Amino acid sequence: MSTPSSELTVAVIGCGRPLRTEGSTGFGMAHRHMAGYQQSGRCRLAAVADLSRENAEAFVKEHQPDAALFSDYREMMEQVRPDIVSVCLWPHLHAEVVCGAAPFKPRAIFCEKPMDIHWDGSLRMHETCREHGVILAINHQRRFNLPLAKAKALLDEGAIGALRRMEGAWHNLADSGTHALDMMFFFNRDEPAEWVLGQIDIRGSRKVFGALNAGHGISSFRFKNGVRAVYHFGPDSGDFGFLVRLSGESGEIEILPQSPWLRLRRTGSAAWETVDTGESIHDDKAIYRAIADLIQALDSGGRPLLDSENALRTTEIIFATHESSRRRARVDLPLPPGPCALLSMVESGELKLEN
Ligand SMILES: NC(=O)c1ccc[n+]([C@@H]2O[C@H](COP(=O)([O-])OP(=O)(O)OC[C@H]3O[C@@H](n4cnc5c(N)ncnc54)[C@H](O)[C@@H]3O)[C@@H](O)[C@H]2O)c1
Repeated sequence: MSTPSSELTVAVIGCGRPLRTEGSTGFGMAHRHMAGYQQSGRCRLAAVADLSRENAEAFVKEHQPDAALFSDYREMMEQVRPDIVSVCLWPHLHAEVVCGAAPFKPRAIFCEKPMDIHWDGSLRMHETCREHGVILAINHQRRFNLPLAKAKALLDEGAIGALRRMEGAWHNLADSGTHALDMMFFFNRDEPAEWVLGQIDIRGSRKVFGALNAGHGISSFRFKNGVRAVYHFGPDSGDFGFLVRLSGESGEIEILPQSPWLRLRRTGSAAWETVDTGESIHDDKAIYRAIADLIQALDSGGRPLLDSENALRTTEIIFATHESSRRRARVDLPLPPGPCALLSMVESGELKLEN
């Protein structure tokens, strides 16, 4: 626990360049994390580690010129011993680096989504952090965007009665899909799922942040409390007109992929009521709130909303969908530790990527 006024030192692994600026290779999520640490009024950037000296130099110049620069994150962890570490690397490095940083016992690691490109790696991240008493939070920040928070409040206050079904649709399974699936777990109070039946199509597959995402597919699953969910992913996900639809016993709530972002229809009414929260589902304020929530967990000795235990449930659906497609069968959870079935099928030649 810490006192709500004490300073927390922060280290960043993977600086990046802000989206669409010179030299950028991605979204430069570390810059967005930094804005959250600054907003908290509690954090000081102590060090960064990046293989690119230029990215590291530009990062500290912008955020904290006296922060230390490293190319090797382990050396940084050994010398600096930060309180919080942001891991903003591409997904294939998440498990390796989180598991490598945890033994240095930072108080928390805030790692970008998705957890890892393999199920066993994702489990290892969670277990290694637990073993070392490190809080691991995964940046499924959209739980903190106002349209999502408002939808959850409406659901919890009974606006559509008890939740029965959820349907989601977005571009892919592992990249944007991890956000969509995480929303479903958020709405269903992080209830575990009990089985997954899925199918993927390799056509149109592409790498997103270096991680292979199947081109097209569907994942149907059942939560332990009986709520049913279906997630559609692929280039035609826009056909559905919603990102997530919640069906309750007396109405429906939809999270939309564009403004007005949130709407509600009560049973017996033909018209949708739009709910304006003044914020989109992509607003970075969600990241700032996620960081504030993480700091609050450090202060209180509690767990953050984005705790890896919650993220694991979402991640299990992703890998169980691949596994279900491989087995041509329903997969009962928990999914045993193992590599990603999609990558295994590509490696063995069972699935052939288009050129
Ligand atoms: N939460 C969200 O909404 C959201 C949005 C976009 C991206 N992301 C996720 O953020 C993560 C990072 O993506 P990004 O776009 O910020 O990346 P980026 O390409 O902008 O930056 C990655 C940085 O990592 C550095 N790097 C690479 N290998 C390294 C190593 N071994 N050690 C140290 N540094 C190394 C690179 O030099 C680069 O500076 C990805 O997992 C991505 O899925 C999340």
